[in-house]
Amino acid sequence: MVPGPRGVPLLGNLPEFGKGPLAFFEKLHARGDVVSWQFGPKPSLFIAHPEQVGELLTEVERTFDQPDLGIAFRTLLGNGVVVAKGPDWRRKRSLVQPSVRPKQVRSYAATMSECATDLAESWTDGQRIDVKQHMAALTQLIAVRTIFGVDTAADAEAIGRAMDVAQQEIGAEFSGIGAMLPDWVPTPGRARIRRATAVIDAEVARIVARHRDGDTERPDLLSRLLTAQDETGAHLSDQEIRDETVTLYIGGHETTSSTLVWAWYLLSRNPDAYDALTTELDQVLGDRTPAFDDYTHLPYTQAVVKETLRLYPTIWLLTGIAKEGAVLAGRPVPVGTRVWSSQWVTHRDARWYPEPEEFRPDRWLAEAEEIPEYAWFPFGGGPRVCLGTRFAMVEAVLILAVLARRYRLTVDPGEIRPVPSLTLQPDKEVRATVQAR
Ligand code: HEM
Repeated sequence: MVPGPRGVPLLGNLPEFGKGPLAFFEKLHARGDVVSWQFGPKPSLFIAHPEQVGELLTEVERTFDQPDLGIAFRTLLGNGVVVAKGPDWRRKRSLVQPSVRPKQVRSYAATMSECATDLAESWTDGQRIDVKQHMAALTQLIAVRTIFGVDTAADAEAIGRAMDVAQQEIGAEFSGIGAMLPDWVPTPGRARIRRATAVIDAEVARIVARHRDGDTERPDLLSRLLTAQDETGAHLSDQEIRDETVTLYIGGHETTSSTLVWAWYLLSRNPDAYDALTTELDQVLGDRTPAFDDYTHLPYTQAVVKETLRLYPTIWLLTGIAKEGAVLAGRPVPVGTRVWSSQWVTHRDARWYPEPEEFRPDRWLAEAEEIPEYAWFPFGGGPRVCLGTRFAMVEAVLILAVLARRYRLTVDPGEIRPVPSLTLQPDKEVRATVQAR
C-alpha cells in the first residue's frame, strides 16, 4: 500500500478529486495498484489491479458494504434493488432477476429492433442529428415499452418526460455539491426531485392499475414482476413494484444511451472498425432486420460495444466500505475504510490492453483469453453485478445493427472529452451527419 498525494488539512484530497476525478485517479494509479488517500475525513484506498477489483466486488454484502447512495437516489428509487441491502436486497434481487433472464430478453428484443427500425425510417440521407438526443429518445422509448408495456405515444411521453426531469435533477445533485450535503439539508434540487417523483408515482400507479385489471401475460417487465413470487409465495407489493420498475428504468436508460453515443463517436473516428462492422452486418443480416437470435452471430458488433464500454465505461466508479474481516491483496483493511475502484483507470491499463487508448474491437475476438477477469467490469461483478447486463448488451447490439446496416454516421470533427457525472457524459453536443449506405 502506497500513500497518495498529500492533501490539505480536514479536506484531504477532496478538492483535487472534486476538480477532476478521472485525472485524480490516474495520478493515484501512477503511484501503484493500492494507494491510500483521504476523501475528506474518511480514510480511503484506491485499487487498480483486477485481482483487488475482484476481491472488492465479490465480497460486497459480506466484508464490504455498498455505500449509501444518498437522499436523491432514495427519493426516486425508494427501496428498490439498487438501494436495498442485506436480506431485503437478496429477496428483491431474486424476485426481479427472472424478469431479465435471457429467455425474457428474447421477448424484449423484438421491441428493441422495432423502435430502432422506426428511427431508421425517420432518418433521411444527409440529415444532421444531435446523436445524444436521438439515442436518448430511442432508449427511452425502448425502456418505457419493455418495462411498462405502454403502447400509446402519449403514455410513453408522459412517463418518459417525468423520468427525464428526475434523472436530470439527480445528475445535477451529483455534479454539484448536493451529494456532499447531509440528507436533512433542504436544497431546491432535492425539492425538484421530490416533485418529479410525485409525478412518476402517479403515472406508475395508473399503469400498474391498468395491468392489474387486464392481462398479465403481456410481454413486458411489469407483467413479470406482478406475477413474481418469493419462496413463501408472497408477491411484490404495489410500492415494491413501483420501486423496481423505476429502478430498472433509471438503471438502464442513461447507461445504455450514453454507451451508444460513445460507440458512434468511436466508430466515426475509426473508419476501419466502422467498415468491419458493416461487413459483418451485410454478411449476417443482408437486408433483414436483426432479431434476438442474430445476437450470437454478430461477434464483431458485440466487440464494438465491449470496446466502447472499455474506453468509455458509463459507470466509471464502484466503491465499498470495509467491514470486519475485509482483506485486499492479503492484508486486512481497517473497518470503515472506503475502497474505490474505477473502470476508467483499470480499463486503460497497458498491462491488460496493449495500446490502451486505441479503439480496437478485434481485441475482444483475438486476444480475449489474455484479458484477466475484472480487467473489464463495466457492469460491476460479484453478487451485485448489473441485473441488466444481457438486456443492455442485446439492446446496444441490435440498435447498432439496425442503424449501421442502413446508415453511416459521421460525427463532426473535434475531440469530445468525457465528463464524469452520474454516468460518463460527452463534454459537448455530439452532432453528426447521417448518410444512407
Ligand atoms: C450499458 C448499460 C449498463 C451499464 C454500463 C450498467 C452498469 C451497472 C453497474 C456498474 C452496476 C453496479 C454493479 C456492482 O455494484 O457490481 C449496475 C447495477 C444494476 N443495473 Fe446496470 N448497467 C447497464 C444497463 C442496465 C439495464 C438495461 C438495466 C435494467 C434493465 C440495469 C439494471 C441494473 C440493476 C437493477 C442494478 C442493481 C443490481 C443490484 O444492486 O443487485 N442496468 N449496472
